[in-house]
Amino acid sequence: MNWGVWGKQLDTPSMASLIHACVDLGIRSFDHADIYGGYTTEEDFGKAFVETKITRESLCFISKCGIQFPSKNRPILFNYYTYTKDYIIKQVECSLKNLKTDYLDLLLLHRPSPLMQADQINGAIDQLLDQGKIKAFGVSNFTPSQIALIKGQHPIVFNQIECSLVHHQPLYDGTLDYLTSNKMGVMAWGPLGNFFSDKNEQQKRIQKSLKPLMEKYKVEQDELLLAWLMQHPAHIYPVIGTTDKNRIKKSVKAAEIKLEEIDWFSLLVASQGHKMP
Ligand SMILES: NC(=O)c1ccc[n+]([C@@H]2O[C@H](COP(=O)([O-])OP(=O)(O)OC[C@H]3O[C@@H](n4cnc5c(N)ncnc54)[C@H](OP(=O)(O)O)[C@@H]3O)[C@@H](O)[C@H]2O)c1
Repeated sequence: MNWGVWGKQLDTPSMASLIHACVDLGIRSFDHADIYGGYTTEEDFGKAFVETKITRESLCFISKCGIQFPSKNRPILFNYYTYTKDYIIKQVECSLKNLKTDYLDLLLLHRPSPLMQADQINGAIDQLLDQGKIKAFGVSNFTPSQIALIKGQHPIVFNQIECSLVHHQPLYDGTLDYLTSNKMGVMAWGPLGNFFSDKNEQQKRIQKSLKPLMEKYKVEQDELLLAWLMQHPAHIYPVIGTTDKNRIKKSVKAAEIKLEEIDWFSLLVASQGHKMP
């Protein structure tokens, strides 16, 4: 989301170099959506991917569809959502063309729609799976009841949700419990939770609590925020948004940090603004 015109506006050689840097660090999954960059970033990434000469099988491409986004070639006034069979299939085929690939490793429905219907969604997913155009299916920003509503024959393997120390509601609202008990994978978008862009009371409390831990564990703030998330038993995969090679490297190293339980709770308490009952 942040590599193209919505973010750092990387040119093709810079994107190719960043793909190589990720692969060298062991990161092989790349998170896309048809709408990123106003329907331009998948194509930019696809050009860079071809330039890397990395084999397709050694990478995982995730993409999403369902949001209709106002942009140059889509003259609509506001976002809305479409999950008809034909639309899902059309958007996946566009993503494949733009990413220069024959298949997506994982397709996610981007956001739940009040108008979505299980038969339309499952008709599309069955066809895409049968044709080998997607290898697996998942959702994003879905509640447990929305997952139950659209469940078909095929497994729903991932839910990509907003989750971080700052945005820790999924720990309490049943989302992570449901995903864990149903053996579904969890990806967290916004894993740093705007910690570096917001200045508010919650951010100040978290910052204060991070300080002694930075000294104790000899790591930086972003590493602790990611380590906190990854220590949750739901085995959360952070979808990191940084485009900075050094920060990507630190993110990978964060997986090695094991916080003592009391330290993990000190961060949760700081984020909540109240002690545990
Ligand atoms: N499914 C969904 O609905 C949904 C919604 C939003 C996003 N996503 C996905 O999730 C990905 C990550 O989301 P996100 O971008 O919100 O993730 P994030 O990793 O929480 O935040 C990334 C932002 O934080 C900055 N940053 C990172 N480390 C920093 C540091 N140490 N100091 C200062 N700034 C720092 C980055 O800037 P630099 O690049 O300069 O490091 C970047 O702007 C997106 O790229 C997208 O693929 C999905």
